[in-house]
Amino acid sequence: MAAWIRVLVLVACLLPLVVECRVRHYKFNVVMANATKLCSRKPIVTVNGRFPGPTIYAREDDTVLVKVVNHVKYNVSVHWHGIRQLRTGWADGPAYITQCPIQPGQNFVYNFTITGQRGTLWWHAHILWLRATVHGALVILPKLGVPYPFPRPHKEVVIILGEWWKSDVEAVINEATKSGLAPNVSDAHTINGHPGPVPNCLSQRGVNLPVDPSKTYMLRIISAALNEELFFKIAGHKLTVVEVDATYVKPFKTDTIVIAPGQTTNVLLTADLGSGKYLVAASPFMDAPIAVDNMTATATLHYSGTLTTTATTLTAPPPKNATPVATTFTNSLRSLNSKKYPAKVPLTIDHSLFFTISLGVNPCAACASGVRVVADINNITFVMPKIALLQAHFFNMPGVFTDDFPGKPPITFNFTGTQPTNMATMNGTRLYRLAYNSTVQLVLQDTGMIAPENHPIHLHGFNFFVVGKGIGNFNPKKDPKKFNLVDPVERNTVGVPSGGWTAIRFRADNPGVWFMHCHLEVHTTWGLKMAFVVDNGKGPGESILPPPIDLPKC
Ligand code: C2O
Repeated sequence: MAAWIRVLVLVACLLPLVVECRVRHYKFNVVMANATKLCSRKPIVTVNGRFPGPTIYAREDDTVLVKVVNHVKYNVSVHWHGIRQLRTGWADGPAYITQCPIQPGQNFVYNFTITGQRGTLWWHAHILWLRATVHGALVILPKLGVPYPFPRPHKEVVIILGEWWKSDVEAVINEATKSGLAPNVSDAHTINGHPGPVPNCLSQRGVNLPVDPSKTYMLRIISAALNEELFFKIAGHKLTVVEVDATYVKPFKTDTIVIAPGQTTNVLLTADLGSGKYLVAASPFMDAPIAVDNMTATATLHYSGTLTTTATTLTAPPPKNATPVATTFTNSLRSLNSKKYPAKVPLTIDHSLFFTISLGVNPCAACASGVRVVADINNITFVMPKIALLQAHFFNMPGVFTDDFPGKPPITFNFTGTQPTNMATMNGTRLYRLAYNSTVQLVLQDTGMIAPENHPIHLHGFNFFVVGKGIGNFNPKKDPKKFNLVDPVERNTVGVPSGGWTAIRFRADNPGVWFMHCHLEVHTTWGLKMAFVVDNGKGPGESILPPPIDLPKC
């Protein structure tokens, strides 16, 4: 190819989807920008000065290269949430797990290929609390010529739900860490960066979603919230759910969706009311005695031809403790399980694991209150290493982690009953080792320690099948008989219900080190995290690739 043609193709590939390119280049400048939300201005960390950040568009089978340049004072790393990263764990992004962070003034090119996935995912910073403002959508279209397994929508719209603090987010968590207690809840929820109209503030009116009568739209809804699950609803309209976490589901209709931090949900919306303006609302779901930001974010669905002065049809989102609404929604999720998109649920199990998901309290001499609230899995509060675990694993560096993470809690008690008096946890950087291609069943059991709570657990590097869930303590004799091994929903982030349990299954077909944690940022900070180390297989294509040369150093 002549040089000028190559340059032309390269430039064209920078414009999303203008031409078909198998390699897509993006540049992320991590910079401070001034944001106006709730009518107060503050500097925030952003990608390319935008909040939410830019959408990455790609097709299944494409290779994506994102050059991240760090222009801020914080260490930075970026995670491509839900991308499987087959053999390319180096590009996964969680700081100190798969890479050392990108230091101020440094850069790193994330290089990964999207294999066997299509749908809505997202990207976010994976260090400190930077993901509050450093996040955006990652849209994977099907291969060229492959249709959706549902009627093609007229248009697609990305909707990112978030949480906003008036003060600096890093200051919020630093203060909490000093005190040993919980951080302040957010001051507002947001829809595409806006809370909706703010009284006495003309510049803050909220997002307008224009629609044409009788057309069908696909909303790619992403929860980038930090600490709260959300209900999402549009006045007068039903939503047809067609996909979650970039896997197709059996379509079903609902008037409310519930979405946890980390999750994505694609819905079809038919503008079948002809005209008018309709309220779009996002509000918290919390069915435990935990403080939340009880603000409702709003936007407007606006039919073409409707005057701006027309009154908006209002809707009330479910109350924050509406467990039945949330349960009905999650119980409706089933894998599409078609010939083209089969649900490959592991039917034999090599590792049967039982993890308690819990809060705890440890003594803390330096804390104002004398104690520190912590979180743990199987009573282990995860301690972040100083060197990335994947490097330690790949280069056989001793002393960074141990591979003795326990497959069950140290003591069995009535997990969801009255809490034990001793709520202390152990510290450790302990991993669970899996042979390549082994199969795992993992029961995640919430406990009543301090308070039961719904924990959205996210596993990096894999999708898993949600084969069962229930309230109370998991019963190993009775409950497995009720597992759905035919068409369970497949996803990367699942809620463990308040005072209940969830069972997942996955196949360890991706060598590397894979983080698993609660996607409520406060719980990750408190130590509700661990990692799996998956050894290389023996066959071709079953080993992790060598690290890229520009991999950041600690
Ligand atoms: Cu979306 Cu480990 O994160």
